[in-house]
Amino acid sequence: MKAIIPTIKTLIICLLMISQMGWAQLPKETEAQKAERMKWWTEARFGMFIHWGLYALPARHEWVKHHERMTNEQYQKYFENFDPDLYDPKEWARMAKEAGMKYVVLTSKHHEGFCLWDTRYTDYKSTNTPIGKDLIREFVEAFRAEGLKVGFYYSLLDWHHPDYTIDRNHPQRQESDADYNRLNKGKDMNRYRAYMKDQVRELLTNYGEISIIWFDFSFPGKNGKGRDDWDSEGLLKLARSLQPGIIVDDRLDLKDVEGGWDFTTPEQVKVAKWPEYNGKKIPWETCQTFSGSWGYYRDETTWKSPAQLIELLVESVSKGGNLLLNVGPTARGIFDYRARERLEAIGEWMKYNSRSIYNCTEAPAGFRAPANTLLTYNPATKRLYIHLLAYPMGAMTLENMADKVRYIQFLHDASEIRFTAGSNEQKNNLNLQLPVMKPPVEIPVLEVILK
Ligand code: GLC
Repeated sequence: MKAIIPTIKTLIICLLMISQMGWAQLPKETEAQKAERMKWWTEARFGMFIHWGLYALPARHEWVKHHERMTNEQYQKYFENFDPDLYDPKEWARMAKEAGMKYVVLTSKHHEGFCLWDTRYTDYKSTNTPIGKDLIREFVEAFRAEGLKVGFYYSLLDWHHPDYTIDRNHPQRQESDADYNRLNKGKDMNRYRAYMKDQVRELLTNYGEISIIWFDFSFPGKNGKGRDDWDSEGLLKLARSLQPGIIVDDRLDLKDVEGGWDFTTPEQVKVAKWPEYNGKKIPWETCQTFSGSWGYYRDETTWKSPAQLIELLVESVSKGGNLLLNVGPTARGIFDYRARERLEAIGEWMKYNSRSIYNCTEAPAGFRAPANTLLTYNPATKRLYIHLLAYPMGAMTLENMADKVRYIQFLHDASEIRFTAGSNEQKNNLNLQLPVMKPPVEIPVLEVILK
């Protein structure tokens, strides 16, 4: 017996060491448990992305340092002049709430490496700029006060950290391996990996409940970086251990690892159908900009119209997904007038039509969308929503629906839409009598109450 005790002791020490080193398994979950953990997010359908950092000053894309191959010294003027004196996250939160958004994801650190919070692990942070404060503390309080769930984007790339090796996505990217070797000499990615963990620990410890972590992004292959460069599993285990309910995107390069991601992230595209992995429909969220940049871009003019943006939201829900719509605040700390106009227009629509968005999903197979419409469906209330993208001239037919429908109304004003069944071979069709004049709603919605 005496001989066994030291063995048990060693075993316990070994186990402790292993768990410290992060070799523990990622938490295992059944599909039902995962769906339950993600329920609030799936029902919310609409969130706000915020890209804010030093790149708001040059105001010509958040990749400006990369595009223009700037050095740290050349970029330093933005750090020295970062003074968002009009920053009022209460106002941001109010605008997000009024637009109908239910959650927010803020860039705590983007690829440039600048940190919006008072991190202990670098001086390259907001507290050392003229604004002189932790911008994240006020942010999380303001959004929570409006009832939104709070998430952080955290860039895996870092164009400022001295140990981050130069790669093909770096401002100082090179042509030859010899040049990479020369420039990367002495850089130690071990230290950078430890830095990321320290920062993620801070973000997920010091700011209360954090509902989403959005790691961005992996680019494995030659002169690239992937799961081993980030220690993606280690990062993810850390995040899940600090915030067990947290929802995680799929950019850690862990697609084939069980528990390695929660949702997929088609960026700036309209998906053709509900995305699948291994033949199964998976949770998804498309992230989209108002115009062609994530960070504030003064001279960009390709802004989407309110109708296009509302359509994007409806389109996502019609295929079972979410929309994360981005705002790039200015370097004064406010939402630019174009962003405000669009948020207000979306809010005006959501005020009367959000019933076709929240808790809704793809319509069951068998419901055929009439031309120029998008369908969404609320499985709990059994209501079908028909979004009229191009308003028809008075008449519209729902095929094969006569035995399914109890009542139809416009969603925005609950006014009845009368209908009759077709005759002869069309007797299972419903012919709707819509007013000729399009109601004053960006995209009118028919609410169909099913039997
Ligand atoms: C890309 C870009 C980045 C942006 C992100 C949002 O990965 O690198 O600038 O933050 O997409 O999805």
